[in-house]
Amino acid sequence: MATRITLTGIKPTGSPHLGNLVGAILPALRLADQPDMTSVFFIADYHALTTIHDAEEMQRLTHEVAAAWLAFGLDPDKVIFYRQSDVPEIFELTWVLSCFTPKGKMNRAHAYKAAMDQNVANGNDADAGIHMGLYCYPVLMSADILMFGSHYVPVGRDQEQHVEIARDIAERFNNAFGPTLTLPEARIDDNIAAIAGIDGRKMSKSYDNAIPLFADPKRIRKLVMKYKTDSSAPEDPKDPDTSVLFHIYREFADSDEVEAMRARYAHGIGWGEVKQMLADRLNTFLAEPRRTYTDLMQHPQRLDDLLAQGAARARALARPILDDVRRKVGMHV
Ligand code: ADP
Ligand code: TRP
Repeated sequence: MATRITLTGIKPTGSPHLGNLVGAILPALRLADQPDMTSVFFIADYHALTTIHDAEEMQRLTHEVAAAWLAFGLDPDKVIFYRQSDVPEIFELTWVLSCFTPKGKMNRAHAYKAAMDQNVANGNDADAGIHMGLYCYPVLMSADILMFGSHYVPVGRDQEQHVEIARDIAERFNNAFGPTLTLPEARIDDNIAAIAGIDGRKMSKSYDNAIPLFADPKRIRKLVMKYKTDSSAPEDPKDPDTSVLFHIYREFADSDEVEAMRARYAHGIGWGEVKQMLADRLNTFLAEPRRTYTDLMQHPQRLDDLLAQGAARARALARPILDDVRRKVGMHV
């Protein structure tokens, strides 16, 4: 058994895009390749229930996200990979943890606070449209993390507060009952610059500016051609370091190709040509994963079986920790 546990959750709230690939999928898979590390990656479907209230959509997005991770190389024999909703131990722990969570801390949790501030700014009742799922979101996330004795939690900066909350709840529990829960650490990689979308803002499913990973090659080319660029002439020298297109190209090309592109920028290259080269590169990179993805999406049962096997392994890891918690608080074990 490896000594350290890295855990992260992926919310199935949208079809995976290029930003997710560069900012989350590829870095997490690189982490999973480290020796002496057990990786636990899961699909946080009950977290997605805070916003997705359509069963068919929940199923489809869960399959899309699972197929995407597998298509880019997640090895389910190496990584413990499951649906959160298949591991009931997490939800039992959620209740125990709520009894150690100061309500005031939840009042300050950013997602809830932002929704409330928005209500107030719009002149509505502060709680309008806010359900307890959003309010308790950080407690469920704490259970996700603490259930498996996670040491490291790779996340984006926006999730840092949630990992801090998990740590705080674990400390409170341990103060009351003695060392029980492992204190997790957020792993935030600030070197991962945000990938920009076709309108120049951060690529996000919420802005309608994303390049979906498994769109057909023609559509990917079409979207790349839409990237906003300045009005400089083809022969004008260009600065690669401030170019969104170069930034994306760099993620998918080898170092010789990157240097060659740098030189073309310095000598002057038309944006149209850069876009064509980028589209070529992306389509080459995505061809094989697209085949795997399409095949998996045609066999959802295979995906469900795989996730169920992952859940069985996750539950085996969770059981002794939950029993320890139950025993400590005075429940029958
Ligand atoms: P979206 O902004 O599309 O809703 P999510 O918040 O679901 O994306 O992102 C999941 C993870 O993917 C984030 O934690 C982040 O690490 C990564 N990610 C999302 N968008 C980008 C981006 N434009 N550039 C780099 N990484 C991103
Ligand atoms: N809240 C995370 C997000 O929005 C997803 C998530 C749920 C998660 N549980 C987790 C991330 C546990 C890390 C660890 O991206």
